[in-house]
Amino acid sequence: MVDRPRAPIAKTASYEAEPHEVGRVLLLYSGGLDTSVMLKWIQDEYEAEVVALTVNLGQPGEDYDVVRGKALDLGAVDCRVVDAREEFAHEYVLPAIKANALYGGGYPLFTALGRPLIAKLAVAAARETGCDTIAHGCTGKGNDQVRIEATVAALAPELRIIAPVRGWQMGREEEIAYAREHGIPVKGGTEAPPYSIDDNLWGRSSEGGPIEDLSEPPRDDVFQLVTRPEEAPEEPQLVRVEFERGRPVALDGERLGLVDLLERAGELGARHGCGIVDQIEDRIVGLKVRDLYEAPAAALILTAHRELEKLVGTIHQNNFKPGLDRQWAFLVYAGLWQEPLLGDLNAFMDRVNEQVTGAITLKLFKGSASAVARSSPNALYDPALAGFGESGGLFSQASSPGFIELWSLQSRMAYGLRNRGGQK
Ligand code: ARG
Repeated sequence: MVDRPRAPIAKTASYEAEPHEVGRVLLLYSGGLDTSVMLKWIQDEYEAEVVALTVNLGQPGEDYDVVRGKALDLGAVDCRVVDAREEFAHEYVLPAIKANALYGGGYPLFTALGRPLIAKLAVAAARETGCDTIAHGCTGKGNDQVRIEATVAALAPELRIIAPVRGWQMGREEEIAYAREHGIPVKGGTEAPPYSIDDNLWGRSSEGGPIEDLSEPPRDDVFQLVTRPEEAPEEPQLVRVEFERGRPVALDGERLGLVDLLERAGELGARHGCGIVDQIEDRIVGLKVRDLYEAPAAALILTAHRELEKLVGTIHQNNFKPGLDRQWAFLVYAGLWQEPLLGDLNAFMDRVNEQVTGAITLKLFKGSASAVARSSPNALYDPALAGFGESGGLFSQASSPGFIELWSLQSRMAYGLRNRGGQK
């Protein structure tokens, strides 16, 4: 007989539920071990009804009928499955593409983008089904709790939140024991790869277990999405990505809806080993962690988008925008989807992206995706001007010395003053 998990810890934030306030709970349910244990535990601990909500954001290989059946078997009074792929692609991933969003230099934010949408859908489902409380399965150490709770608290001040995994002190072994004791099926048991995984159509992350040993390279069993570069095809493949106003609209001449396009780009990238990132990350809750990302769609689409933006932007736009891109990525990473500054930045991103129309051809080869051809009606590029052969045309090389004299004027003056006396 396993010890009963401890009762919920005392509440700290105003939006957390006291046990007596919990009557009907909307549980964000993935079908995995944590949320399955929660489904049972909430019913017992709070004597509450549980409505389960599962959100499809394009995580590969998920069988939602099975997830739904499992929730109902475990006593959920209802289990809703929402296919949110279109909304996710258009309202969350597309703004990220326009902002070239990468956190910490390598993470395309797929989890961070998904959470505010999941939280929004949870609020809607809670209201529709008469729930007073939302429950999620995040731990107290990660960013995901911040993203979900910040969104729920902003959108629905009347709802309470519980996060049982944060309060109970069960480790994986104890959860498995609890599951066995309560007839919860445990997929893979203790033999399942010991990683915490999250995925959607924009990428997949693995954390924890052996990944925490920084002195070791990742084990091969981490990578379940992207072919390891050394095993990728010996022949490179070219793929032409077309954009209209910052939005990817076609691959190799075939027009595709955004969800299909991202899925197709993901398959191509995965086949060629693209989008593997091994990164040490600064979480907003203070911890540094190691993450292993597989984000093949992002590896292709973000590379192509950045290349096209460079071609159509002026030197001033191209120097300025990366600073705002970084700010955008930080706010999203940090769980502040409702922050007005993000809206301000989106207005800027949309405006800049009005010019981002054209095509980039990428060469995919053993883990790399690099631009090899470019075209755009808005390109600020004129071979007649830039060419080395001709000295005529509109670009007057004879004007250059005058430009250099004025352009360097202040720098030369300052240099002279600072080096008075010295012979530098
Ligand atoms: N480090 C990433 C982030 O903070 C990925 C988190 C993945 N979540 C998970 N439950 N495994 O967004």
